[in-house]
Order: sequence, then structure tokens, then C-alpha cells
Amino acid sequence: MNEKEYWKNRWVTGERNPPNPFAKKAYALIRKRNYITLLDIGCGDGRDSLYFAEKGLRVSALDFSKNGVTNLKSLNSNIKTYVGDIRKMPFGQNSFDIVYAHLSLHYFDDKETDKIFENLYRILKKGGLIFVKCKSTDDALYGKGEKRGPDMYRDGHLRHFFSKEYMASKMKKFKILKLRKTSSVYDLYKSSFIEAIATK
Ligand SMILES: C[S@@+](CC[C@H](N)C(=O)[O-])C[C@H]1O[C@@H](n2cnc3c(N)ncnc32)[C@H](O)[C@@H]1O
Repeated sequence: MNEKEYWKNRWVTGERNPPNPFAKKAYALIRKRNYITLLDIGCGDGRDSLYFAEKGLRVSALDFSKNGVTNLKSLNSNIKTYVGDIRKMPFGQNSFDIVYAHLSLHYFDDKETDKIFENLYRILKKGGLIFVKCKSTDDALYGKGEKRGPDMYRDGHLRHFFSKEYMASKMKKFKILKLRKTSSVYDLYKSSFIEAIATK
């Protein structure tokens, strides 16, 4: 099963999930400024897109899982949805006040990751905010499955685990406001993450 097939099957139900705590954390910062537009990258079932839209933001959401995006659209037709690949996002320069990516940027090799972050810099408006959370090299799943590259393993699906230094290097063009390692329970097991909040 390839990556797209895996995620297609993941978002088959239209059940509504609560927003991720990272979205709430992001909104606590967002609300202090006059932001309007937000892009949710790798939105999945759109739980965070729905939350941001309820808070009054103009939300665009992209994922290559048609099921996830279709479910999201059926729950809130005001959200602009895109079925597409994170590696080929169709947005122009300075398109969004906020770029948000929760557990959606740790699937690509180093070269692809570089290109994605360059694109994120391009599409974020000056003075905008970017929120990124990725699995960390301290995660319980690190080292499990077939090794596919530096800090990359395939166990069910492919994951590229980030260190704090790796995240900092990918975000070097941005002005980093916060960069930290966190732990929590995601999908019923204890996970470790790197969270970054930055501005342009
Ligand atoms: C762990 S889920 C996170 C979903 C959502 N952000 C959340 O936190 O609830 C990762 C998401 O990234 C999407 N994804 C993975 N690779 C992708 C790619 N190359 N292009 C677009 N979406 C991708 C998957 O379809 C999936 O919905």
C-alpha cells in the first residue's frame, strides 16, 4: 500500500473529532493579532480547520486524502478545500496570514522537506505566523520498521523523525519564536514531537 492509499483509508468516516491541543495553542496566539486567512496543510479530517473556521478565520485546507477533504467540506462548506499534494501546493506568494501543519510534514525525505519549507516561506505573508508540529527522534516509533533514509523509517507508513536542530535548520529563513520538544498521547501511544512557531 502506498502512502496515498494508506491515508485514503484512514479518513473514511465522517465522524467529528475534537480539535488537536496544538490548534488551541496556536489560536491563543492568533487571536491577539488581526489575522484573517489560514492554511491547514495535511488537514486530514479537518478537525483543526473546523475549529479555526468556528473562531472566524478564513480557512483553506489541503490534503491528498479525498475522503478527509470531502468529509470536511460536508461539515463546513465555507472552508476552501483542496485535494492535492503537499509537495506541489498551488498557492501564490504571500497568500496566507497563518500557515498551520499538524503532523503532516514528517513524511518526506530531506530534499523534499527543504522544498516544502521554502514553499511555506513563500506563501506566508510578511508578519504572518507559521505553526509546525512533527514527530521527534525521541518518539516511541523511531527506529521501527524498515530504514528508508536518515531518521526515516517505514512501519505501516513512512515517517521522517525531526530533531530540534533539524527543525531549526528547515526553518532558518523564518524568525523562530518558539521551538521545543513535547510529549503527549496521540493515537493511544506516547509520542514525542518537535513544535515550532515562527514568523516571517
Ligand atoms: C497524521 S495525519 C494529520 C492530520 C491532521 N493534520 C490532524 O492532525 O488531525 C497526516 C495527514 O497528512 C496527509 N498527507 C500525508 N502526505 C501527504 C502529501 N504528500 N500530500 C498531502 N497530504 C498528505 C495525510 O493524508 C493525513 O491526512
